[in-house]
Amino acid sequence: MADRILIVDFGSQVTQLIARRVREAGVYCEIHPFQKVDAADLKAFGPKGIILSGGPASVVEGEAPSAHPAIFTARVPVLGICYGEQTMAAQLGGTVEAGHHREFGRAEIEIRRDNPLFAGVWSQGDRKPVWMSHGDRVTKLPPGFEVIATSENAPFAGVADEARGFYGVQFHPEVMHTPDGAKLLRNFARGICGADGDWTMGAFKQRAIEQVRAQVGTGKVICGLSGGVDSSVVAVLLHEAIGEQLQCVFVDHGLLRMGEADQVVVLFRDHYTLPLVHRDASDLFIGALAGVTDPETKRKTIGKLFIDVFEEEARKIGGAGFLAQGTLYPDVIESVSFTGGPSVTIKSHHNVGGLPARMNMKLVEPLRELFKDEVRVLGRELGLPADMVGRHPFPGPGLAIRIPGDITREKLDLLRKVDAVYLDEIRKSGLYDEIWQAFAVLLPVRTVGVMGDGRTYDQACALRAVTSTDGMTADYYPFPHEFLGRVATRIINEVRGVNRVTYDITSKPPGTIEWE
Ligand code: XMP
Repeated sequence: MADRILIVDFGSQVTQLIARRVREAGVYCEIHPFQKVDAADLKAFGPKGIILSGGPASVVEGEAPSAHPAIFTARVPVLGICYGEQTMAAQLGGTVEAGHHREFGRAEIEIRRDNPLFAGVWSQGDRKPVWMSHGDRVTKLPPGFEVIATSENAPFAGVADEARGFYGVQFHPEVMHTPDGAKLLRNFARGICGADGDWTMGAFKQRAIEQVRAQVGTGKVICGLSGGVDSSVVAVLLHEAIGEQLQCVFVDHGLLRMGEADQVVVLFRDHYTLPLVHRDASDLFIGALAGVTDPETKRKTIGKLFIDVFEEEARKIGGAGFLAQGTLYPDVIESVSFTGGPSVTIKSHHNVGGLPARMNMKLVEPLRELFKDEVRVLGRELGLPADMVGRHPFPGPGLAIRIPGDITREKLDLLRKVDAVYLDEIRKSGLYDEIWQAFAVLLPVRTVGVMGDGRTYDQACALRAVTSTDGMTADYYPFPHEFLGRVATRIINEVRGVNRVTYDITSKPPGTIEWE
């Protein structure tokens, strides 16, 4: 088993970034909620080192969450970040006080002592930018600790007990605004903890293949293929692991973008020679959606039909004991909740609507340990084409939630054409990979225009493009005006039926990425 680091989560918004940085250093790690980490958990996990995350709580208020004492007697290095530093200091005999000078955002620290955490990155006397976000601060160090960095408002911005391998930083090394932060986390994982940096995607792939083989034996696995990155990677990985024991089902709901359904079939059936059932159920879906205008009713209608059709196809195949799903790590991380116990957040759309239980199937989830960008790396490792692996996310209900109001085939065709022109221009401009998601929305609005000598009275559309790291928050993409002008001209010239183009500049929050 690869060396691993345990991240104890105290509920910081950026805990996942710690995990990302550690994995980028080639070390496998997992995030466990602080309530779950005890001596037994530590023994079972066997970490080479432990990182205590930040969190919203205050050590100086009653009932503050604390790190299990076994963490400090496990004889492995510990790094406390922000709240993690404070609770470590308080638990080991230091003092933490409510800060009268809060520090939020950019701050400068001064390096006071050379030490293994800063090795090769920062030296004594350097002044370096970091990102802070704290109200409380450590005011007295526990026995054995020394100051390694200070800031104007945090005399203990960095502390260390090198003999025990305990380190604390008040700033957040995991965020981009601490430019050298990733190197510090690497120093901790690789240098201080001595973890091997052998957690590569190639190694992961081999291990995942072996695990799938061990789990499935000679059984048959059904895999829903949508053409998205996650399901594509799952399908190709499973095919490599178990060959013809895999059967893929592509339920085509007729709500995909231009040419997409054909691409799925050509790529997977013809190129990868995966056993693939392509069920064209577009009449069924578009029929069921007739007259449906409420966004949630659209989602439910599509979700329910999807399960019905998928189940029908699965039954036809028969005899499959396993269902494969593209569940990712962010879907299974137990989130820290201070009101109740830890709660598991699983996005409902990742779970094929209770189907496994209904059909008495066991789940195969080979991507459960991966972040989205790691799935892309795995996809490349498996030889999937770059444009497939780098695809923007696409919602399960497809174009149905990009047509406010009721859905018709005509509207779907119109939207597909607009969307295709828009994406073509984005690709040609080399902007595709800078954008999290870009798409067109067909508005239920007709506007007057003039083309040539004639008056038009056609539909308006909106274009949307956002940047994001996880889809939870997003900013609109600041296209150059000249780009927007070019796209608008092309759409109106090439797509008969659309005579006005708008650009959506709403961020999330308060907007959402999709319009419905
Ligand atoms: P919103 O619109 O909530 O979208 O800001 C966040 C991300 O989720 C996608 N999305 C969906 N994906 N089923 C899905 O599979 C859905 O019903 C759904 N609604 C939104 C959206 O495209 C974006 O990536």
